[in-house]
Order: sequence, then C-alpha cells, then structure tokens
Amino acid sequence: MKVLGISSSPRDNGNSDLLLRQALAGASSAGAEAEYLRLNKLNISPCTACGACYATGMCITEDDFQIVLPKMLQARRLIFASPIYFMSVCAQAKILIDRCQCLWARKYLLKRALCLPEGEQRLGMAIAVGATKNTKMFDSIRLTMKYYFDALDMGYFANLFVSSVDEAGKIADNQKAMEDAFRLGTELADAEGHDPKETIEVELIG
Ligand SMILES: Cc1cc2nc3c(=O)[nH]c(=O)nc-3n(C[C@H](O)[C@H](O)[C@H](O)COP(=O)(O)O)c2cc1C
Repeated sequence: MKVLGISSSPRDNGNSDLLLRQALAGASSAGAEAEYLRLNKLNISPCTACGACYATGMCITEDDFQIVLPKMLQARRLIFASPIYFMSVCAQAKILIDRCQCLWARKYLLKRALCLPEGEQRLGMAIAVGATKNTKMFDSIRLTMKYYFDALDMGYFANLFVSSVDEAGKIADNQKAMEDAFRLGTELADAEGHDPKETIEVELIG
C-alpha cells in the first residue's frame, strides 16, 4: 500500500506540512509505504492550456510534473496538504492541480484507464490550515479537492481542516489536530472497502 503525501506550503515547518507528516506517520504505523513530496522544492510551471493533452492524455511540458505524475498514479492513497491563501489553496498547490488536466482528458475525453491494476480502490485526503476563524474558509478547497481526486480516480476519504493557526509550527501545540492527523492517516491506510461517496469531515474551528 503506497501512500503519497504532497506538501504545498512554501514555509519551512509549515502547519499544514506538520499535519501531513503526522498523517504519513499514522499511515506508516498501519503498515503503509509512505512517500513525502514538497512542491516548493520542485520546479512545476502552470498549465498553459496548450490543448496537447486533449489528443493524447499526456502533458508535454517537461518539468518536475513528469516526476510527480507517475507517483500520483502509482499511489493508492494520497494526502494533499495546503495552507489557506485568500480562501483557497496556495499557488503551489493550484499549479500542480491544474496540470492534472491531462488526467481529466484521459478519463473524460479519451475514456482511458488511468491506473493499473484497475479496480483497486484509490482514496485521497485533504489537509488545510488557515489563520482566521472564517467559517467559509474551507469551502473552496473542499470543491477543488473533490475534482482533483476525481481526476485521479480517487474517492474522497477525509478532510482535516484547522482554523486559527498562523505562526509557522504552532500547530504542534494543538494536540487534538496532531492526534486527528495521525488517526486519519492510519484509517486512510486501512480503509479497504470505504464507501467512496462518504467523506470523513474533521473541522477544528478554534
Ligand atoms: C498569501 C497568504 C494568504 C493568506 N490567506 C489567508 C486566508 O484567506 N484566510 C486565512 O484564514 N488565513 C490566510 N493566511 C494565513 C495562513 O493560512 C496561515 O498562516 C497558515 O497557518 C499557513 O499554513 P502553513 O504554515 O502550512 O503554510 C494567508 C497567508 C498568506 C501568506
């Protein structure tokens, strides 16, 4: 069972990054093989809407997306973490997500299978942290993740959203959030037969 963790915060010791690492530790404790990627260390440029993928399902832009793409397709579990920026995912996250238009093309235009072996359940989980208490803060990321996981042929397993945390690393003081991240990581790794229509919602509004 491969679990891929994608961290999109540009900050060292970022809050969303710390939750992601906790979730990956949980997945590992449940026997999964965890891999961690930090988008800020990679060179991925935005989708140019060139349209090449509509004919082939392949993205022709040669950059680190070509390294991340097979990892996303091979993982049976994905944990995607982002800070909330202007009520949505951060730019690093959105750039990667937009590049997955080639997967949307494969799936919906070309009607090709994305992943081998077919039939194995794939599941994704989203983590986000914002500074304010705004109750609408996670609306946008919820929708974006729904369509991103769908393009990846993944069910939407869970959300872990935490508000009122700003200073880098401060999330480590939030024991409940750290424990929930670990627990959800274990549950994600061990979620065989999970109803793909059901998303576990953990929203810690402080
Ligand atoms: C460019 C930028 C935009 C932000 N926009 C929001 C926002 O819309 N709502 C909010 O609650 N916090 C916002 N924040 C605060 C971050 O979400 C907060 O610091 C969070 O803890 C960052 O997560 P990270 O440590 O994982 O990067 C913003 C921060 C930056 C730098």
